[in-house]
Amino acid sequence: QVWSREQRYTALEQVPAATLGELRALVAASPWRQGYHIQPPTGLLNDPNGFCFWRGQYHLFYQWFPLGPVHGLKYWRHTVSADLVTWQDAGIGIAPDSMYDSHGAYSGSTWPLEDELLLVYTGNHRSPDWQRMPYQLAAHWDGQRLRKDAPFLSGPPAGYTEHVRDPKIWEEGGEFFIILGAQREDETGAALILRSPDAQRWTLDGELHTRLNDFGYMWECPDYFALDGMDVVLLCPQGLPSEGEARRNIYQSGYLLGQLDKTNWHFEHGEFAELDGGFDFYAPQTTLGEHGERILVGWMGLPDMTYPTDTHGWAHCLTLPRVLSVEGGRLRQRPVPALECLRGAEVGLGGDAGERFELRLQPDAGPFVLDLRVSEDGAHFTRLSFDGEWLSFDRSQSGELPELDKPGLDAGKGGQVRRIPVSAVRELRAFSDTSSLEIFVNDGEAVLSGRIFPPPHSTGLRWSGGGTAQLWRLNTPA
Ligand code: FRU
Repeated sequence: QVWSREQRYTALEQVPAATLGELRALVAASPWRQGYHIQPPTGLLNDPNGFCFWRGQYHLFYQWFPLGPVHGLKYWRHTVSADLVTWQDAGIGIAPDSMYDSHGAYSGSTWPLEDELLLVYTGNHRSPDWQRMPYQLAAHWDGQRLRKDAPFLSGPPAGYTEHVRDPKIWEEGGEFFIILGAQREDETGAALILRSPDAQRWTLDGELHTRLNDFGYMWECPDYFALDGMDVVLLCPQGLPSEGEARRNIYQSGYLLGQLDKTNWHFEHGEFAELDGGFDFYAPQTTLGEHGERILVGWMGLPDMTYPTDTHGWAHCLTLPRVLSVEGGRLRQRPVPALECLRGAEVGLGGDAGERFELRLQPDAGPFVLDLRVSEDGAHFTRLSFDGEWLSFDRSQSGELPELDKPGLDAGKGGQVRRIPVSAVRELRAFSDTSSLEIFVNDGEAVLSGRIFPPPHSTGLRWSGGGTAQLWRLNTPA
């Protein structure tokens, strides 16, 4: 189905109830609906937005186009959780109903103030001749009503193009800061810093100065936080070529570790490292958790791809939340401990764990092959294998497949195998949901995430090596 511009920019309230009912029925019939991941009720989910802990609960919003599996008029959809595992859908968070966000309430973040939640986001406006105008917007949520302010930054600052978006806010030393994704007029990506004494009047402090002056054509969804004595910047550069086994997804999502001088925004940092070694990961956002831990959630999907659920009227989900730490000069990512409450019956490796399970495996030293989600006839499976140097995640036989939907990319982009260098695999912790796998390697040293679309009843498991293993069925939260 080809979506016209008019269809993509239709507001939800203009759609007849019967049409929405048909869409919901189409989605409900999809065999690939997830059990314990955040997914859109209908249509397309992309970036996590506004992740925070406020008044005793986690709030997590996401970019949402309700009407189908394409990028169109974006809303923020709101979900709430007490424990980061059971999420309650809370309806529309931001509707694109003002002049400033008329063509989409794009990505942004939140900050808990005394008696309200402050939302900052990018309003995507287009003129009748389709010229884009980005507005940086604030809105206030008192738990019941949303009040939108006039823009605090209108259009691109001098020296930048229309691609200025995705404000991530934080407070520090009695001041507020925003890191903002941008494209310079020479079409290189950058991040800008804004500063405010009161989270109302914002001034542009300048660019974040990194060593990456020519690193892709646009940086989307930047994030900044201090962790374990280091400064961490997350960014999603678009336009990086593949490099051997690395950077094979269409766009990258990674981090820089170092020391940031906040008087002049000079960042002394190490190499750009990808956050996830799998297929489907982009635009992550972090927040401080209830106990001061740094928690990350990503979009388990990417732009400019087609996915097998497209024909079912929906696309994508969010990743499981991960707790971050800096260890040995690298970021570690571990699944949030609360996920253990999903565990149901423990079945042996030979038992049938169903589609939704957690596998914890300590393989003996040396090579192995592990096939997950094996179909009844044995023909479909997703293979994790280790050859002593490389850990491979091969979904080429897993069933129906996502595909790149953008011409002109280098030959290293795409494909259905991802490999990361690993000297030894001491532990694998795999979370399987109906249509995804997230593999945590060596207690969070690396993570590989991927959507898979196997035939129904693909619940088999094949393991060639020795070692110890535990396998739990996972429940679907109520
Ligand atoms: C990243 C992104 C953001 C933008 C949003 C629009 O996936 O392109 O830069 O704000 O998605 O949905």
